[in-house]
Amino acid sequence: MGSQIHAGLRGVSVGKTAIATVGREGTSLSYRGYDIVDLAHHSVFEEVAYLLVYGTLPTSKQLSDYVDRLVSMRTIPNSLKDVLERIPESTSPMDVMRTSCSMLGTLEPERSPSETNAQGITDRLLSVFPAMLAYWFHFATTGKRIGTQSDERSTAAYILQQLLGKNPSETRRRGMDVSLILYAEHEFNASTFNARACAATLSDTYSAITSAIGTLKGPLHGGANEAAMSLIGRFKSPEAAVNEVNCLLDQHAKIMGFGHAVYKKSDPRSALIKHWARKLAENSDQGHLFHISEAIEKLMRERKNLFPNLDFYSASFYHVLGIPTRLFTPLFVCSRVAGWGAHIVEQRSDNMLIRPGAVYTGPVKRRYVPLERRS
Ligand SMILES: CC(C)(COP(=O)(O)OP(=O)(O)OC[C@H]1O[C@@H](n2cnc3c(N)ncnc32)[C@H](O)[C@@H]1OP(=O)(O)O)[C@@H](O)C(=O)NCCC(=O)NCCS
Repeated sequence: MGSQIHAGLRGVSVGKTAIATVGREGTSLSYRGYDIVDLAHHSVFEEVAYLLVYGTLPTSKQLSDYVDRLVSMRTIPNSLKDVLERIPESTSPMDVMRTSCSMLGTLEPERSPSETNAQGITDRLLSVFPAMLAYWFHFATTGKRIGTQSDERSTAAYILQQLLGKNPSETRRRGMDVSLILYAEHEFNASTFNARACAATLSDTYSAITSAIGTLKGPLHGGANEAAMSLIGRFKSPEAAVNEVNCLLDQHAKIMGFGHAVYKKSDPRSALIKHWARKLAENSDQGHLFHISEAIEKLMRERKNLFPNLDFYSASFYHVLGIPTRLFTPLFVCSRVAGWGAHIVEQRSDNMLIRPGAVYTGPVKRRYVPLERRS
């Protein structure tokens, strides 16, 4: 290998995957060969999670058994509840997700590299992440200990029920379901890459997913949906948004929710979530946020030739659903854990330690000076 640097590993393939294809030229995305548009129109999230984690679309019986399993695994161990109750209200909810995952790994550990159970642990996390998030959120904000058991079979409905304390309408449930499908997997993105790098050391599944959560938190990755909301939430009208975003662009600011490291023309997930953002906005007193978002999209296209990614319209969509902004990225975790789990299984099936090199730019050949002679 020479000393050529591939900054940010852009355009470099660092491994093989049979899980997702992110269209390089910027139009398509598929999970295990199925186009994201078909999955978003015809599947439910649990079907997509099964596809990612187990490799094939389930039959009706397999799906029903899988949902039974997910519903049965929502219990939070008491010692984990104790930990959640000690986490301050001011904590980033992404830190709550990271801590919950890590703590669960101490209570229900994956025994050893030779006895791995990434699929089982992924299913457990798919079930219990929404419960842990809601339990902490309600305790931290109101001091109430909520029950997390529910017969609700849809993860999307369960999330909305747990967080908002009421059963969602069918439109809201289905919109949330589609959002979970869109967030579930995206090839070798930063958090998935970290999960794989961790799994490649033969570490355990909880450690790999904990690393991934820490990586997803940043605003250049999963945190972009919250950053996009704090931008659009500042404006009362599309005109005000255009004025200020114009100023931000003059100052070379980055507008969160636009652009992508792989897609160069459009993000195929954006139109799908935009459809749901529009649908919800139509019957909401927060509908102006959708028009503000559209005005920013138009401006970004005109001034920077940049397109919205999944996070941009997810922002107004989640807001209209009534979800507090700081819970947006944790919801991304509740979905992406399916993709992370699939990648951990795949990494282990043909493992090699991931260990890139670097071009050294520090000082050469310094003479060591003993401590007592340094000034
Ligand atoms: C995702 C992202 C990191 C991809 O980056 P990338 O392909 O490596 O592109 P770069 O960051 O190198 O940017 C290339 C150019 O486009 C500009 N650009 C990229 N995204 C931009 C954005 N969101 N707002 C304004 N300008 C942007 C950069 O400033 C840069 O301009 P320059 O060449 O004049 O310096 C980048 O688009 C970004 O930071 N977006 C905002 C965060 C976000 O939404 N993340 C979620 C991704 S799903």
